[in-house]
Amino acid sequence: MVSSLDGFIAKKDESVSWMRSTDHYEKGTTLTDEKIEEFLKSIDCYVMGSRTYERALELGWPYGEVPVIVLTHRDLPTKETVEFYSGDLEKLINDQLKPKYNSIWMVGGAMLTKDFMRLKLADDIIISIMPVVLGDGTLFFDYIGQEQGLHLKDVTAYKDGMVELWYEIKKKQT
Ligand SMILES: NC(=O)c1ccc[n+]([C@@H]2O[C@H](COP(=O)([O-])OP(=O)(O)OC[C@H]3O[C@@H](n4cnc5c(N)ncnc54)[C@H](OP(=O)(O)O)[C@@H]3O)[C@@H](O)[C@H]2O)c1
Repeated sequence: MVSSLDGFIAKKDESVSWMRSTDHYEKGTTLTDEKIEEFLKSIDCYVMGSRTYERALELGWPYGEVPVIVLTHRDLPTKETVEFYSGDLEKLINDQLKPKYNSIWMVGGAMLTKDFMRLKLADDIIISIMPVVLGDGTLFFDYIGQEQGLHLKDVTAYKDGMVELWYEIKKKQT
């Protein structure tokens, strides 16, 4: 997910211009369309909360023909590649999606992040920090209430000042 330095993933007014940086970091890497395309090709399935889905419908669908699972208790506008699910997240991920898909991308938002972390359903977290302090909005990590160890897998700084941190979530030792 994309975050401000102070940990917000959405502004109160839901505007997204803060996600487009005009900063310049000379030593950074350029994020090319080819790199984005290659990365997106590795995703087999997206999972998202209903509020993230509604926002994606408003902003323009970025998920192409890849299957998307939307969590909701409501009747929402449908799309050909979208399936709706309501209920137990462990059953959805472990029983339904993992046997079928290799790479499952949890898009967000904050509510779902919290549940995925608490239920230990996520393997990795990739957080892209934009060079901005928003001061208010929706927090990425909104009081998860548990300590979780992380292993830093990679760090990439981009020319526009965005810093991508890639962590693996350590599974509890048994
Ligand atoms: N910065 C980023 O990278 C990024 C990424 C993603 C999203 N966002 C932003 O985050 C905001 C949305 O985040 P959010 O935390 O408010 O909402 P969200 O996580 O997108 O959606 C939460 C909703 O999902 C449904 N839901 C969750 N778990 C469920 C379950 N087990 N069964 C059935 N339904 C379930 C419920 O909606 P119902 O009422 O429909 O049942 C719940 O209110 C938006 O502004 C979006 O643009 C930012």
